[in-house]
Amino acid sequence: MHKDLQEILISGSELNAGIKKLGARISEDYAGRALTLVGVLKGCVFFMADLAKNISIDARLDFMMLSSYSGAQSTGVVRTILDLKENIEGRDVLIIEDIVDSGLTMNYMLQNLKTRGPKSLEICTLLDKPSCRKANVPIRYTGFTIPDKFVVGYGLDYNERYRNLPYIGVLTKEAIEGIKTCR
Ligand code: IMP
Ligand code: MG
Repeated sequence: MHKDLQEILISGSELNAGIKKLGARISEDYAGRALTLVGVLKGCVFFMADLAKNISIDARLDFMMLSSYSGAQSTGVVRTILDLKENIEGRDVLIIEDIVDSGLTMNYMLQNLKTRGPKSLEICTLLDKPSCRKANVPIRYTGFTIPDKFVVGYGLDYNERYRNLPYIGVLTKEAIEGIKTCR
């Protein structure tokens, strides 16, 4: 375990098992449809890669990168930094997110992508922190529901650190200094 962690919340093998199940459900639900996975960078990278490998039907992969002003004066304002490469009109779009916390990011994604005329639009998140919700977004697929703790690893960062840990962990009090939960 990394020295800055107090606990491993979800191990690598638990992640693999959960993602395998999600992949099977998505493959079944979207069989015969025109599926586009839209990953939200950077947090989605490991989840998107592993999930996509567990999806047995044809799927296109595309990405967006957002910036959110979620510091001390959280405004909930989200901005697009990098937009989709492909057209999603008429396609069945599944947004791939690392974690839904306040829900403001997913709320923005839904409003934004809806205007482009997808045939369907749903959310798949690896982690759900329901205790922190400010915007009520419908989540179609959830890997794991977690308590109100600041987690890192498997794509999730704290100031761009810890993304490459192969599991989801909780930072120690020392490392977490200054982090507000339910940001
Ligand atoms: P929301 O808009 O509040 O739902 O926040 C979603 C984004 O905040 C996620 O895509 C993450 O990038 C980030 N985030 C929220 N909670 C955590 C956490 O516990 N660890 C790392 N990043 C987080
Ligand atoms: Mg994210």
